Amino acid sequence: MSDGPLILGIETSCDETAVAVVRGRTVLSNVLSSQIDAHARFGGVVPEVAARAHVEAIRSLTHRALARAGVHQIDVEAIAATRGPGLAGALLVGFSYGKALAWGLDLPFLGIDHMEGHLFAPRLEHEGFAPPAVVLLVSGGHSQIVRMDDWGHYEVMGSTIDDAAGEAFDKLARFLGLGFPGGPAIDRESEGGDPGAIRFPRALPDRPFDFSFSGLKTSVTTFVRDRHREGTLPPIGDLAASIQEAIVDVLVAKTFNAAEAAGVTTVAGGGGVVANRRLRARLAEEAERRGMSLYLPSPVLSTDNGAMIAAAGAFRFERGERTPLEAEIDASLRLGS
Ligand code: KG4
Ligand code: ZN
Repeated sequence: MSDGPLILGIETSCDETAVAVVRGRTVLSNVLSSQIDAHARFGGVVPEVAARAHVEAIRSLTHRALARAGVHQIDVEAIAATRGPGLAGALLVGFSYGKALAWGLDLPFLGIDHMEGHLFAPRLEHEGFAPPAVVLLVSGGHSQIVRMDDWGHYEVMGSTIDDAAGEAFDKLARFLGLGFPGGPAIDRESEGGDPGAIRFPRALPDRPFDFSFSGLKTSVTTFVRDRHREGTLPPIGDLAASIQEAIVDVLVAKTFNAAEAAGVTTVAGGGGVVANRRLRARLAEEAERRGMSLYLPSPVLSTDNGAMIAAAGAFRFERGERTPLEAEIDASLRLGS
């Protein structure tokens, strides 16, 4: 087991209530309660439903995380909780609970940027992952290419000018009637499909490392409506694989171009979309082709989890940082701000 502070991490920014105990870089427990069933019938995350479900789950989940880790709450050295970005009502639950716990146990508290959490996820599993690096962060709400010159020093090289990559997966899956969440549904449907069946456009905005996915949405909906009318709709597997390929192509090309431009040979990824099997395979191929090192968190640490928040918390705790208990959530927190 690695050394380092014993941190309890709490994540409630969207639709997963997640709590973990981490010692330095070692995950001792990582539990979550997914709200997928509660939101699925609405076809997306309903903020009010999310907040209430977090309230119901947070206490027992915290006890479970401590029990699985085999640690007592008095041994915990600090509490870390997501401060933003995310849904305000959802964030408030974990952040307030974390502050109350810190106050009650007289422990230091750390408010963590959710995207910094995603950035720390690969560090939990890969000893070799270290700056300077370029990191692709792709979730349901954000898509960014971040240059990291040192831990805690981030420069956003590019971001989406419209939808996030996960949002594109979710919206297109909903349009195709594949359900919620859309990313895993498209990933599954693509199996056995031909990624080259339909050539959807790859949007390349003027700024070389920015993304745009709204044009893909328009192009897919137009294509499906036209073909449906003609009675020539291709198999759903081909459609899903072709959509996935259009998104993955752009993410892979821009990430590695950014790494070249930044002069780094280390590339990493984080966020729910990094759980995508095609994206993982294509990133690995491209890293090998360019002779670069690639560090991806395993799928459970790619999607939202408490361990990544605890990991970022451990780093900030060791640097002597503390968040005052008067601090508030920031639903639109931006990495590096
Ligand atoms: O990081 P995350 O768990 O939550 C946010 O911070 O938003 O990311 C969730 C996003 C959703 O849009 C979901 O559809 C997408 O990640 N996602 C995937 C896969 N698993 C989750 N997208 C593509 N393929 C997957 N296997
Ligand atoms: Zn996330």
